[in-house]
Amino acid sequence: MLFAVFGFILSLALALANGEPLKYSSDHFEAWMDNHGKDYNDDKSEYEQRFQNFLMNSKVVENHNQAYEKGYTSYAMSLMKSPFADLTDAEFEASHLMAWQNCSATTHPSSGPMTSDIELPKHVDWRTKGIITPIKNQKMCGSCWTFSTSGCLEAHTCLNNPDLDCTTWTGLAEQQLLDCAGDFDNHGCNGGLPSHAFEYIKYAGGMDSEQEYPYLAKENDSCQLSPLGFAAEVAQIYNITSGDEDDLTTAIAAAGPVSVAYQVSPDFRFYSHGVYDSFNATTNHTMCKSDAMSVNHAVVAVGYGETEAAKDKSSVPYYIIRNSWSTSWGMEGYFWIKRGENLCGISDCASYPIVPRASKNQDGVLDVQTSRLRKKA
Ligand SMILES: *[C@@H]1O[C@H](CO)[C@@H](O)[C@H](O)[C@H]1NC(C)=O
Ligand SMILES: *[C@@H]1O[C@H](CO)[C@@H](O)[C@H](O)[C@H]1NC(C)=O
Ligand SMILES: *[C@@H]1O[C@H](CO)[C@@H](O)[C@H](O)[C@H]1NC(C)=O
Ligand SMILES: *[C@@H]1O[C@H](CO)[C@@H](O)[C@H](O)[C@H]1NC(C)=O
Ligand SMILES: *[C@@H]1O[C@H](CO)[C@@H](O)[C@H](O)[C@H]1NC(C)=O
Repeated sequence: MLFAVFGFILSLALALANGEPLKYSSDHFEAWMDNHGKDYNDDKSEYEQRFQNFLMNSKVVENHNQAYEKGYTSYAMSLMKSPFADLTDAEFEASHLMAWQNCSATTHPSSGPMTSDIELPKHVDWRTKGIITPIKNQKMCGSCWTFSTSGCLEAHTCLNNPDLDCTTWTGLAEQQLLDCAGDFDNHGCNGGLPSHAFEYIKYAGGMDSEQEYPYLAKENDSCQLSPLGFAAEVAQIYNITSGDEDDLTTAIAAAGPVSVAYQVSPDFRFYSHGVYDSFNATTNHTMCKSDAMSVNHAVVAVGYGETEAAKDKSSVPYYIIRNSWSTSWGMEGYFWIKRGENLCGISDCASYPIVPRASKNQDGVLDVQTSRLRKKA
């Protein structure tokens, strides 16, 4: 017993700089359960299965972090921080990622790419502007597309209502999209696309508040809109030109947060910090595909920037992305992903809503992106 305790203390003492142990034991699994509110102690076989998954995942994390220490990849993993350390790849894929979506319809943007002569800022972070609501948790349902939609529409609604403090707002109703948006080629917990969800919201007249239409993490056949009316509206949808990261970056800088979709592999659930580059430490290669048919996760780009160059490292450009896996995942619920090479199809399937209170041009036509660009110029 004494040795066991001593061994545990030793293994904690041997932890790497990023807080990960060198070797994982059942003590780490217990600590992980405590941290993530899990308890398998009542079911011995369940405990054993989950512990084996934990150990198997620890190999992936160790392997990856060794490559990270050597500078082969720009992001680090953490097993202890990940809420998904007890799941297999297949379990995670089935419960948290969506089926591959067909984004090819976004090939033709609604109003032509945003061309501009203005100099874009080097760093943009909408989280500092009071328009980003708290991180949410999609739980066990492939409903990322509804959270991408709500997160983006919440931000644009707040951007156009400067009186609102959106940093404490519970926001808009993902459940409405799960229950009601099926006619727009969306499939509830099996996936959908933010661009299709925005089309639905425009057609339906608006989106209910989270408070009025609470999230259940499962589909409910009956679509029950709140009698109190909508909390946000969509007047138009702007599709980013597929594959055009200049268009995407310009939109983030000039118009606000953008809903993006991309392809993730199941080991993304161990992301801890740094710039995600989809690196496979076994093959030394990028894993994800960059085509419009392969996206399986939707999120919100709330900014962009680049890492500082160091003596032996050039700077890495990235997007700042809001995820829907709770604040305990990643960097307080956020991650960075490499920018500039359409990595994992990040610009293949991107869109944002234009909300009614945005400025109108002389003909009364909504013209938000051009008017914002003009103001900056
Ligand atoms: C993808 O969507 C486009 C546009 O709606 C359609 O033309 C195409 O056939 C679809 N592809 C597949 C494989 O479903
Ligand atoms: C945007 O792309 C979606 C497909 O992702 C398509 O259904 C929609 O019609 C497009 N919207 C506009 C305004 O072009
Ligand atoms: C589905 O929605 C109805 C109406 O809001 C509600 O009464 C019911 O409890 C919901 N079903 C589930 C499974 O949550
Ligand atoms: C990395 O590549 C190896 C070899 O092809 C493969 O077995 C493994 O599943 C890949 N890792 C992930 C997370 O996809
Ligand atoms: C990956 O790169 C490292 C360092 O260059 C090398 O030792 C290792 O053999 C490579 N692995 C593969 C599968 O190419």
